[in-house]
Amino acid sequence: MSNSTHIPEKSKALTEFTQEVLPEFEKALTAYLTAEFPFAPQNRLLSAITYSCLTPSKRYRPLLIIASQKLFSNTIHPILPFASAVEMIHTYSLIHDDLPAMDDDVLRRGKPTCHIQFDEATAILAGDALQCIAFEILATDLPIHFKADKCQKAIAYLGKKLGIDGTTGGQQMDLDMTASTDLPSKDYLAHMHHLKTGALIKSCVVIPAILNNASATIITHLTQFSTHLGLLFQIADDILDETSNTEKLGKTAGKDDSQKKLTYTRQFGLATAQEMAKAEALNAQEVLKKLTALQLDTALLATLIEYTLNRTS
Ligand code: IPE
Ligand code: IPE
Ligand code: MG
Ligand code: MG
Ligand code: MG
Repeated sequence: MSNSTHIPEKSKALTEFTQEVLPEFEKALTAYLTAEFPFAPQNRLLSAITYSCLTPSKRYRPLLIIASQKLFSNTIHPILPFASAVEMIHTYSLIHDDLPAMDDDVLRRGKPTCHIQFDEATAILAGDALQCIAFEILATDLPIHFKADKCQKAIAYLGKKLGIDGTTGGQQMDLDMTASTDLPSKDYLAHMHHLKTGALIKSCVVIPAILNNASATIITHLTQFSTHLGLLFQIADDILDETSNTEKLGKTAGKDDSQKKLTYTRQFGLATAQEMAKAEALNAQEVLKKLTALQLDTALLATLIEYTLNRTS
């Protein structure tokens, strides 16, 4: 945000948390993408998958998942299959988002996009395969740690949040408005962001609660919390496209403007978009108070709100 240079992106607590949990997460993710495929070195598809998925990145969704798990348990090991699956799904969405038929981007996570490094057909297939591997992991490994009925609920929830009522539907809404000269309603834009980005972020927060048998009240509050967080995340992404630079972002800055994308900055201007991001952060903080009142330790989630608002990449 405008004065973000004066605010540390990550609080000390979030930095410590990241250092504590991300190595374990990376180990789990890498194991899933390397151990099971004996022909890896010769396999162009797997090379494209690991090229995109194992490139260092924020790992925002795994952090969120592990933070949510920690509301209910001190052990993070049981949630690592879910965190790995979600990072694979997120990577699939990025690979497809970057394709010429979608946002036509050449840079992702500081490297050539998957279709540039490999080719368009391989990039499409890499995305397809990542999504399939993710659901295979969920069906296979979640039941090792959680009750079968909770796993079924969690997998159905995630499927819904990736389909027409989630990521994919939101991406269609985005494409439908790209380069349009009309500005749609504020509701259209918010709905688009909730679907294309918010739905997966919501899954990261709510699914660990489902798996850990949280009460309906806690799930309702976490749903509300993550609705604000998801919208905040994408408003911040829109803002960063305008205010940050290519080196920091690891993707081409100013791309939304050049493609006439429907974004919060285009619809409302930078200053208002920044105010709206802050308002979502405050809304998320308000919901956390309800969870704190239920004796949950929400400190990590609070620090993730700050990070989502103040991040510079
Ligand atoms: C980018 O997500 C796509 C959006 C939903 C805005 P991230 O900003 O989390 O990208 P990585 O995972 O760090 O590369
Ligand atoms: C992407 O939104 C959302 C998904 C990948 C589902 P953007 O198109 O704004 O993401 P970036 O800016 O390319 O990372
Ligand atoms: Mg896009
Ligand atoms: Mg894009
Ligand atoms: Mg963007």
